[in-house]
Amino acid sequence: MTTADPRPARTETATAGPAADDDWWRSAVIYQIYPRSFADSDGDGTGDLPGITARLDHLADLGVDALWLSPFYPSPQRDGGYDVADYRAVDPRYGTLADFDALLARAHTLGIRVVVDLVPNHCSTQHQAFRAALAAAPGSRERALFHFRDGRGQDGSRPPNDWASMFEGPAWTRVTEADGRAGQWYLHLFDPGQPDWNWDNPAVREDFEDTLEFWLDRGVDGFRVDVCDALVKAPGLPDWPHPTHGVIEPVDGAMPPMWDQEGIHEIFRAWRRLLDTYDGQRILCAEAWLPPERAARIIRPDEMHQAFNFRFLETAWRPVALRDAIDESLAANDAVGAPTTWVLSNHDVMRHASRFGYDGPVELEHGVGADDPQPDRALGLRRARAATALMLALPGSAYLYQGEEIGLPEVTDLPDQARQDPVWERSGHRIRGRDGCRVPLPWTDRPPAYGFSRSPDTWLPQPAYYRAYAVSVQRDAPDSTLHFYRRLLALRRRYRLGTGEIRWRASSDQVLHFTNGLIQVMTNFGAEPVPLPPGIQCLAASRSLDGNLPSDATVWFVEQGVLPH
Ligand code: GLC
Ligand code: MG
Repeated sequence: MTTADPRPARTETATAGPAADDDWWRSAVIYQIYPRSFADSDGDGTGDLPGITARLDHLADLGVDALWLSPFYPSPQRDGGYDVADYRAVDPRYGTLADFDALLARAHTLGIRVVVDLVPNHCSTQHQAFRAALAAAPGSRERALFHFRDGRGQDGSRPPNDWASMFEGPAWTRVTEADGRAGQWYLHLFDPGQPDWNWDNPAVREDFEDTLEFWLDRGVDGFRVDVCDALVKAPGLPDWPHPTHGVIEPVDGAMPPMWDQEGIHEIFRAWRRLLDTYDGQRILCAEAWLPPERAARIIRPDEMHQAFNFRFLETAWRPVALRDAIDESLAANDAVGAPTTWVLSNHDVMRHASRFGYDGPVELEHGVGADDPQPDRALGLRRARAATALMLALPGSAYLYQGEEIGLPEVTDLPDQARQDPVWERSGHRIRGRDGCRVPLPWTDRPPAYGFSRSPDTWLPQPAYYRAYAVSVQRDAPDSTLHFYRRLLALRRRYRLGTGEIRWRASSDQVLHFTNGLIQVMTNFGAEPVPLPPGIQCLAASRSLDGNLPSDATVWFVEQGVLPH
């Protein structure tokens, strides 16, 4: 067995701007940036747009095709910016529109496309339309932009229906009317700071099309669409005495009245028509926690381009379960002609380097506190590298979350008083929430803030163990996770794995083995090493090999002599 180092040129388009090739999104690797935690340029302890621009070389060196920016719009940050007060501006803490334009231009120069977050289900209570609705009377045009209802019971003191907020407690909050009396209720599927728009109202539809045009005109390459399956609610907002959390399944053939209603599709079709009037290929990516065959309906040819694969993300480190998740996702998306996407981490779930460091199943969004059982970090990282190598060999588009390329673990011992996720308070300190995956990145091994900021007071505190993961440390270590990611992305590009096709090969029940074109991929989920086929050339391995594939490892190889030179 030999180890070749093809070291492919990162990209032929490095200085030529995004390649004009069609269907870039079908095989793209898209890197998610959570602006608050990526890099802070002005020393206020919060990441910002100029901080991102200054660090874009990191993404170019990594070899990604695009980046997705979580919200950077003006926001009171009740839900980390997913409570938007103005859809067509930049929050001063993140910079200015000119800073956004500079980021976009620099990314395009590096050959990296830019996708921004669209949050159409709800805004912030600070949005001027909601403030106007509060000031206006029940039944007014202003209130008709949202879901205002009278309460139940004689004095209207009970919520209009039984829906629960995704962040615990009721999905309704009662307002005080202009005369000082307790009045109507408004619907919020998430935090009370996030009132749901009424998508039955044409004015809401028009306003969002204006927002799409605003960013498309500036040159963005697409939108990631937040909880897009919730926009349309069943008429009459009927009660739903069944679960509404997690991956939503129909009950007796009916979807819950707040999810996946048929009416969402005409909205996406209208957006698609609008995007298609622009040059290049501007894309829509659906965030919808639906089973694969339901999510696939959102990405039929005249709707969105792709949808996050939560079926894959939710699957534990088990070979049969993963193989089923892969097969089901590919089948569901192939049936509508859409690419499958792959994702292991994002800003809402425990980082996979920690998730896989537990033996049993893990609550993805619940978070872990210092007194809870802690993950085995070494085991988690081994499995995370193996899982990523498996994922990046699959055809379709892949999403990476900032920090996973340095094997960053979840912060599972964050001081409780530092927590910002609204679910922590709303659950009465039962659910810790998602702050542990949002802690600012370590860029260097030096204080203060490991290169993230010149202030030691970062918006969430960084643990001392983040130092060892710093980008600067890994840049100088050839065996680092950072170099492993670079290598995988370069090979994926060179052998066009993103547009390939997989075939499963026979293997023992603790091993997954498949081919994608010339490349063979093997993952060992078992406790014992397994022998590798003789006469192979290894291209990349998540752990070092000695003729065997060790436990919790993935290898990419070819048969000796098949690679063209
Ligand atoms: C999406 C976002 C999450 C947010 C929620 C409400 O799931 O990813 O961060 O809390 O929508 O906007
Ligand atoms: Mg800042």
